[in-house]
Amino acid sequence: VNRVPVALARAPYDVIVGLHALDEVADLVAGRRAVGVVTQDGIPPEYAEHVSRALGARGILVEQFRIGDGEATKSLATVEALTREFAASGLLRGDAVVAVGGGVVGDTTGFAAAVFHRGIDVVQVPTTLLAQVDAAIGGKTAVNLPEGKNLVGAFHQPLGVVADTGTLATLPPREYASGLGEVAKYALIEESLTGETTVVDLLRISLDDVLARNPEVLAELVTACAGIKAHVVAADEEERSGVRATLNYGHTLAHALETNAGYDLLHGEAVAIGLAFAGHLAGALERIGPAEVDRHLRLVMSLGLPSAVPGGDDIDPDELIAAMRRDKKASGGLTFVLRGPNGIERVDDPAPTAVAAALGAVGVGG
Ligand SMILES: NC(=O)c1ccc[n+]([C@@H]2O[C@H](COP(=O)([O-])OP(=O)(O)OC[C@H]3O[C@@H](n4cnc5c(N)ncnc54)[C@H](O)[C@@H]3O)[C@@H](O)[C@H]2O)c1
Repeated sequence: VNRVPVALARAPYDVIVGLHALDEVADLVAGRRAVGVVTQDGIPPEYAEHVSRALGARGILVEQFRIGDGEATKSLATVEALTREFAASGLLRGDAVVAVGGGVVGDTTGFAAAVFHRGIDVVQVPTTLLAQVDAAIGGKTAVNLPEGKNLVGAFHQPLGVVADTGTLATLPPREYASGLGEVAKYALIEESLTGETTVVDLLRISLDDVLARNPEVLAELVTACAGIKAHVVAADEEERSGVRATLNYGHTLAHALETNAGYDLLHGEAVAIGLAFAGHLAGALERIGPAEVDRHLRLVMSLGLPSAVPGGDDIDPDELIAAMRRDKKASGGLTFVLRGPNGIERVDDPAPTAVAAALGAVGVGG
């Protein structure tokens, strides 16, 4: 397995990546009295079973908990139900929980752990590509309110993150492709952040293996992406300095597409379109040349992801612009994270003609 350090001052931890990495969970909670394992209907039960058996073999009391599937499960109602089950099973302040699943399980369990007994330890065991490269790392936990996504949450760093790339074999194809949307983001921001091109190089050399989900190649890819996320999280643990905003590359349009109900896009699909848009917009603002714009499009398409908004003809560009103004990074204006001569940086209120041209280039408004 590979170990990616998340170098936080208070409680550093590792992202442990590899085929059969599930075996590493027991070491992270060794010596605990009891551990709750939380998973989800719809995820093959063998992952949580594997973890539970390994914990039981160390003499740890193990209880399993299941939550429902889908974004609607990420709610305060689920947190109440889950923490009541924790209490009923007798989990105490010094015990721990393990979240086995995608971002929905990780965010909900992470938040429940942050508030149960005012905070118990959590191990994140991401089983989607999106969660392995992004959601499980960095300690952001939250649930949704009817008023908006992720509105109630906490920073609660895990004891460790265990990303077993073997679990990705059972992921539905569209969920896998969605995770590749975040991988494409890392490919486009890595050089500007760390000076390295690991993700781009891996995708160039091993694209077919990535698409075929070769678990060894995926271990390298997830390790590289986790390294980028870890780098940013360590530099800006609680999103105060703005460094962490670079992770929002492609996300301004993506969030607007996701919040405008009816677009029916998975997060990574929306991010892929957002990346294409970020390329077009930087091009229209002459921050990058046509070859660099083209690189954004080719990358997204090579991963089988959309580079234009499905049904975009019927969308009013002004509606999307209004939604982008409501983005949490923006303070009334329009804020993007764009590539340019100084690398990736925040750009406020770009020329409206450039925004219109870039929206047109991703097929919005026909
Ligand atoms: N905390 C963060 O920093 C952060 C970052 C990005 C996204 N998120 C959150 O993550 C969530 C999305 O996460 P996601 O994309 O993992 O979606 P998800 O958790 O909904 O999982 C997608 C689907 O795949 C299924 N699944 C998971 N693992 C599987 C496996 N190995 N085999 C078969 N099926 C499997 C799930 O049951 C679900 O139906 C959103 O709620 C988003 O807000 C959080």
